Amino acid sequence: MADRSPATSAQTFYSRLARLYDALARRGPGVDTLRRSLADALDPPPGATVVEFGCGTAANRPYLEARVGPEGTYVGVDFSPGVLRVARERGAAGGDPGHLVRGDATRPPLRADAVDACCGAFVSGMLADPATAVRDWASLVGPGGRLGLLDLARTTRPGWRVLNPAFGLFVRAGSPPGTAEALGRSPATVQDERVATAHRTLRELCTDVDARTVLGGFGRVSAGTVE
Ligand SMILES: C[S@@+](CC[C@H](N)C(=O)[O-])C[C@H]1O[C@@H](n2cnc3c(N)ncnc32)[C@H](O)[C@@H]1O
Repeated sequence: MADRSPATSAQTFYSRLARLYDALARRGPGVDTLRRSLADALDPPPGATVVEFGCGTAANRPYLEARVGPEGTYVGVDFSPGVLRVARERGAAGGDPGHLVRGDATRPPLRADAVDACCGAFVSGMLADPATAVRDWASLVGPGGRLGLLDLARTTRPGWRVLNPAFGLFVRAGSPPGTAEALGRSPATVQDERVATAHRTLRELCTDVDARTVLGGFGRVSAGTVE
């Protein structure tokens, strides 16, 4: 029988739609604001090694490389081969294939002493146990390391809440086939809960937390220094 686990469905979905996803991830409305907000809040120091879990086509790479500079390193980790292929092609075309690794964000394939900053963008909602993943990422960077999250969730801001039903449709359309059935609940509700859990866990683990909302409260950014 075919393996229809959520992880397998996600890998198939993101590999098949990698080029379409890449176009949205780099040129979609509001994405520049969202990605700048993550890089600003994470603020990895020059020379740092920064790891992005669930990197997709590495649309955050230029924003984070601008922060860490030529002495620093961006490492992207994703479990979907199709998005990594697109990310590697772009890197190679720009003269630097970069460090793009196939791996599971919930089992970081990296040495703990090698990472200064970790982040995830639009991935918390895909993790069945986001609290454990965020704790693992915090352990990876260790005390003094930087940790950041960027996610989308339904807004609580009056005036913008009218757009929540449309956002719910966007989440459903952007979920691998069978997600709603596998969850037994609305994907947007599950995404809201997972995003809230991930960001709360980061706040519990970090000091000097910078927590922002952008784009009418749909974009959630949190970052801090691991205690
Ligand atoms: C919505 S995309 C976000 C991609 C990228 N971070 C961005 O900002 O455009 C989610 C990505 O997370 C990856 N992903 C989801 N769960 C993962 C896991 N457990 N391990 C590694 N990658 C994962 C998917 O393959 C997909 O590429």
